[in-house]
Amino acid sequence: MRPLVFAGNWKMNVGPVEAREYLRAFFAAGEIPHERSVWFFPPAVSIEAVAQGIAGHRNVSVGSQDLYWEPKGAFTGATSGPLAKQSGARLALIGHSERRHVFGETDADTEKKVTAALAADLQPVLCVGETLEQREAGDTLKVVTGQLEAALGKRDGKARVTIAYEPVWAIGTGRNATPQDAAQVHGAIRGWLKDHAVTAAPFVILYGGSVNLKNTAELLAEHELDGVLVGGASLNPRDWAQLVRTAVA
Ligand code: PGA
Repeated sequence: MRPLVFAGNWKMNVGPVEAREYLRAFFAAGEIPHERSVWFFPPAVSIEAVAQGIAGHRNVSVGSQDLYWEPKGAFTGATSGPLAKQSGARLALIGHSERRHVFGETDADTEKKVTAALAADLQPVLCVGETLEQREAGDTLKVVTGQLEAALGKRDGKARVTIAYEPVWAIGTGRNATPQDAAQVHGAIRGWLKDHAVTAAPFVILYGGSVNLKNTAELLAEHELDGVLVGGASLNPRDWAQLVRTAVA
């Protein structure tokens, strides 16, 4: 069995009280299968509750959904890498499409955030992906490699960075990329990572965008996909426990 990552992005859902209940229901299904990793991305206020709830269970980590690049100070409303780390985070999502499109985050911001995450000893999970307009214009690979270049291109030294390919048009729409389309973009991302000596192997590339219990097996049958980043379908602990146990060809 190849190793697979199942990442759940709770977005602005599941407070600390609900997180404790969620984890009890999730682990009632048993421990996470060998060769599989589960990553939870709760809202910042729930990171500590999740860190406590997963303690003692194997193959499971928690991360922040975002971070601000300054380590501390007068930045009302922001969470820094060191603060997330102190709450128990091991990972940080960077450049999620909602950060880019709802909050106006730029490519230059993602570069600073990747640097800040690594400085705080958090593993960055960099999200990239094209809009529908860009896909229809045939610009998918140009957009995605441009986002990689902006966030990682100037790095010196190799660091472990996970990439999540999330086409914007597939997020929360019920319309996932076909496994073949996703695999093609993953191949291009892997090629970019190999050509630019800025990330450490093994390269882990997740697909996200309307992943659910019905389409996970078909998506993960493509060996270019090393796992999935899941929003809506990660919110029910029993469904999520089932999804992380999906049989994969
Ligand atoms: P979705 O979200 O699974 O609800 O489409 C994925 C994501 O935004 O990470």
